[in-house]
Amino acid sequence: GLIVFTLVFLVTAEYLRNRRPSNFPPGPTAFPLVGNMFSLDFNNAYRELTKLTETYGNVYSLKMGRSWTVVLNGLNALQEGLLTKGDILADRPIFPIHVDVLPELGIIFTNGHMWKQQRRFALFTLKYFGVGKKSLEFSILDEFIYLSKEIANHKGKPFNPHFIINKAVSNIICSLIFGHRYEYSDEKFLKMMNLIDRGTQIEGSIWSQLYNAFPVLMRRLPGPHHTLQKTYGEIIELMKTEVDQHKEDWDPSEPRDYIDCYLSEIQRKDDEVDAGFHEDNLVMCSFDLFGAGTETTSTTLRWAFLYMAKYTEIQEKVQAEIDRVIGQSRQPSMEDRANLPYTVAVIHEIQRMGNIVPLSLPHIVSRDVQLGGYTIPKGVIIIPNLTSVLFEKDQWETPYSFNPGHFLNEEGKFVKRAAFIPFSAGKRICLGEKLARMELFLFFTSLMQRFTFSMPPGVEPQLEPRISVILSPREYEICVQVL
Ligand code: HEM
Repeated sequence: GLIVFTLVFLVTAEYLRNRRPSNFPPGPTAFPLVGNMFSLDFNNAYRELTKLTETYGNVYSLKMGRSWTVVLNGLNALQEGLLTKGDILADRPIFPIHVDVLPELGIIFTNGHMWKQQRRFALFTLKYFGVGKKSLEFSILDEFIYLSKEIANHKGKPFNPHFIINKAVSNIICSLIFGHRYEYSDEKFLKMMNLIDRGTQIEGSIWSQLYNAFPVLMRRLPGPHHTLQKTYGEIIELMKTEVDQHKEDWDPSEPRDYIDCYLSEIQRKDDEVDAGFHEDNLVMCSFDLFGAGTETTSTTLRWAFLYMAKYTEIQEKVQAEIDRVIGQSRQPSMEDRANLPYTVAVIHEIQRMGNIVPLSLPHIVSRDVQLGGYTIPKGVIIIPNLTSVLFEKDQWETPYSFNPGHFLNEEGKFVKRAAFIPFSAGKRICLGEKLARMELFLFFTSLMQRFTFSMPPGVEPQLEPRISVILSPREYEICVQVL
């Protein structure tokens, strides 16, 4: 009798838990315990989540394991959530996998006062060391000299550009955080690249979703999720050696980089524990900036090569514009941007089609809020579906084809588009947006000025992405011709 009663009680309780609260966004039926976890194809989540809008509209809900999640789709819903009600959506959910695997909160996965302080400090320091200024422009152009030598070594024969590009891009954030670049032959540097790549693969897999939904169980079950700790642990160790090195030759009156400034901040904020300025968090923040600053811009550039090799006539138009405006006798500079509308439009279109962070990063609602006319209670997770905006039918003339015209008016002048939101929007908008835009413009125009990219004979560019936290091209080989 007791067993039957307990069972009936548990089933009823589970049924009630899976009912949507009143005036909550609609969505597919959530099953007991697992919710909608197994009714979605995680290898294709960004497409599946976009498709669900056809049935449930732009604001709908899912149950991921035990947590209610609301997906925001389309420009209007994203603007309402991230801008108009941005204060209420500024926090991140803190997932079990991060609590278990990462030693500190860093920048990306922290909230409240600590997040505000860390974000402000990182933005200020990046700016101080050159983001938006000439000094950084010069270090990007210097790095391009190394990069172009490396690429020129491969002229004529097909090569995989993956880690060559990653190293060049990573050196820019490395010089801001660590105060130096790495030689491309440096074993430690290559190891960091590989670890970051592996880490994002595991994080983007179903294993980490399961971990977050059923932490108690997954901590005991074997699987790739257990290697994440080791992978991130190794990167964190490498960050720690950089911090230790800085402590040895640190001169507070002459800060060289982010780490030096952070060491001073630790002393200044000695009595303010909740701002998070301490040494272990310095290691974690360096990890956040290094990771976010390496994989994203390089992935975008790897998409750029593929698109240029596929649409040779677009590549030729870019090169003709660069030839006309800059020529071959000097390197590009940020001021050239105003005179290169076609090139700038192509970079935007690469970012739009590349869609490298398809579902942004998750947010969480910090108090009850109305979105799209629905009531979302405090604690619900929000997924800003950037894909649904970057390919929104009403926003783009030809959403699914590569068309630089999306960013040009009739006179060929560059036009900004509100639906261009690869960096997300609002309080949590990408902290590296300015840096990424400088890197993309200077690396891309420099590359187009010096090289023509083409697929090896008989090979078609493969545009179907490899899916993890970010969408990247599958490994490919490309050919270059030196101009
Ligand atoms: C956050 C995209 C480059 C650092 C984000 C977010 C997106 C994004 C979509 C999540 C925003 C949200 O939560 O709504 C991109 C793209 C990049 C890029 C498309 C390159 C093309 C960079 C670079 C850095 C960086 C170069 C290096 C400084 C960060 C950080 C956050 C972030 C620290 C977390 C911000 C916070 O939680 O307050 N990025 N990013 N990103 N990005 Fe980027």
